[in-house]
Amino acid sequence: MKIAITTGGGDAPGLNAVIRGAVLGALHRGWECVGIRRGYGGLLGEDSVIPLGADQVRGITHLGGTILGTTNRGNPFHWRDRAPDGSWTERDRSDEVIRNFQFHEIDALVAIGGDGSLAIARDLHAKGVPLVGVPKTIDNDVGGTVATFGFDTAVAVATDAIDRLHSTAESHERVMVVEVMGRNAGFIALHAGLAGTADVILIPEIPFDIEKVCDKVRRRDARGRRFSIVVAAEGALPKGGTATFKDPEAHRLGGIAEAVARDVEARTGKEARSLVLGHLQRGGSPTTFDRLLGLRFGAAAIRLIAEGKWGCMVALTPPHRVAAIPLDQALATPKRVQLDSDAVATARDLGTSLGD
Ligand code: F6P
Repeated sequence: MKIAITTGGGDAPGLNAVIRGAVLGALHRGWECVGIRRGYGGLLGEDSVIPLGADQVRGITHLGGTILGTTNRGNPFHWRDRAPDGSWTERDRSDEVIRNFQFHEIDALVAIGGDGSLAIARDLHAKGVPLVGVPKTIDNDVGGTVATFGFDTAVAVATDAIDRLHSTAESHERVMVVEVMGRNAGFIALHAGLAGTADVILIPEIPFDIEKVCDKVRRRDARGRRFSIVVAAEGALPKGGTATFKDPEAHRLGGIAEAVARDVEARTGKEARSLVLGHLQRGGSPTTFDRLLGLRFGAAAIRLIAEGKWGCMVALTPPHRVAAIPLDQALATPKRVQLDSDAVATARDLGTSLGD
């Protein structure tokens, strides 16, 4: 068997652990592995297909990023080319991917990615490509799996940042509003906000009322707690309003922390500052949990191939098993923070404002 591995979409700490798990799992069976560089770019003349042996995956478990490179602009079904006048055209290059897949005599593909990349994998599988998926994203928003690798690391980075903000917020008696990633899911904000003891946590699943946010700040002030920490998911939105976009055309979220800080300052008279953690949450070494999950997912992907579970994705299922679920099923419903989850109940029990 010749197995190809690709990493697509935004990177997430733990990708290299998946690659190592998959490569060593394949070699263990006497199979051969190659890596498609830069998403599917390596099959489309944009980059190359490289051999992946034990040497290539040595000492990479603890490294952030992906040794294969990645892109979130490489959908072969909707390939975008820029004309000299700056305009964009779109074409379907999926047949070319399949032809080059055959040209390289690849027997099976391990597609590692978030919902976008897994949807590409599902569509390639529908066109006959034998493949299995591995869910990846710091946002933790892929359906069917309890966790995706990268999430734990992002939460750890965000928690550390919130911890550090406490002292400067307290010294200056300010309101600090921290924006974390997560797209339309509030997992990073909720988990890091709880762990970092934020006073207010704003998530997309619970549209907020700015007056409720200000109430919390005022109540703390009245008790002599003259500073407050607000954690806002980048996709958080006010009741009856919409999410804030840095680049609406490209659907790039951003700016909610600054908007909330300005509003809180205007309404409470307290000095407020905002900061955006951004890609720091995706960089650096994966946590132990993400390394392990990555290795387990990578090795499990090879077991799925050995069992011929084509069109399936590895998933962490309760209590602690890595199982196979059809990509269709995983992609049918993106995961969101459940309003009846114990994490939400914990926030309410602790007196943390969720802005509602
Ligand atoms: O999906 C992962 C993620 O980091 C989101 O949390 C964020 O909205 C987005 O990717 C940022 O994408 P980019 O790297 O293209 O700026």
